[in-house]
Amino acid sequence: MKPSASRIFVTRIIPDRALKVLYEAFGRRSVHVAPQDGAIARADLLAGVRGANALLAILTDVIDAEVMDAAGPGLKIVANMAVGYNNVDVDAATRRRIAVSNTPGVLTETTADCAWALMMAAARRLGEGERLLRAGQWAGWGPMMLLGMDVHGKTLGIFGMGRIGQAMARRAAGFDMRVIYHDVSPMPPEQEAALRATYVDKPTLLRESDFISIHCPLLPETRHAFGKAEFDAMKPTAVLVNTSRGPVVDEAALARALQDGAIFAAGLDVYEDEPNIHPDLPACQNAVLIPHLGSASLETRSRMAEIAARNIVARLRGEVPPNCVNPEAL
Ligand code: DGY
Repeated sequence: MKPSASRIFVTRIIPDRALKVLYEAFGRRSVHVAPQDGAIARADLLAGVRGANALLAILTDVIDAEVMDAAGPGLKIVANMAVGYNNVDVDAATRRRIAVSNTPGVLTETTADCAWALMMAAARRLGEGERLLRAGQWAGWGPMMLLGMDVHGKTLGIFGMGRIGQAMARRAAGFDMRVIYHDVSPMPPEQEAALRATYVDKPTLLRESDFISIHCPLLPETRHAFGKAEFDAMKPTAVLVNTSRGPVVDEAALARALQDGAIFAAGLDVYEDEPNIHPDLPACQNAVLIPHLGSASLETRSRMAEIAARNIVARLRGEVPPNCVNPEAL
């Protein structure tokens, strides 16, 4: 197929850097960008994808068999502009010989920065302090006012020691923290030594951590990996941070744990049913709540979009996309 005969469908406005890559490879007329700066309606997605050879999707687009069939047999790749790809039915894509790609690596440090910021903000009650000040309720310095938890010198528990988990471990060194982690298996000893991180089972992680930061993917076995039993097993002074995927945490149980003092605080970037959040969470003053901003820096979002575009270029040139998650499809 001539590059100019390709049809690329992009589900919403994305950084220019990616569009430039697509325009250079395929010509402007081949690239169709849904015009809204918001989630695409399902009907618009099904209509827009029709006849597409490549689909550039974002993590809130549900890309299932229906979407792939709506595209037709010419669809060669779903390039997800995210490292997580739980919004794409990869098995359905593989059966149709459609490549699925993600954007690993580029958002590691940016997401770890965000997780670290959430951890600090929740531990030191920055959200509460800011709300108090903005409401004009600050009566001046008080020896007992908004006392939080120290971060330095404490134990950081990392649940999911992939790239972002490891980036958290590196940050912890600067705060003189002890790092323990849990994953499906331990890292090689030399990697553990470099990160000064110790593998522990999940009960130990829950029992010994002052801070737990979640960095696992969303899989059937990680859904609600943190619920009432886990919160009860954590220290009452512990802080939970989640920048991975919302359903890893049972939000109703978390809201109760925050209300009852089962844990000290939480910092959340992701939610079970985005953009909705559990109705009890906003009232939890000890929760720092931000709207899925993990990778939201100008530099990183541009890089993510560009990577998605380059995966499309590679696939439509007949190459294996550099970030293909289902190479068996090809
Ligand atoms: C991802 O890429 O999975 C992130 O959640 C995006 O912010």
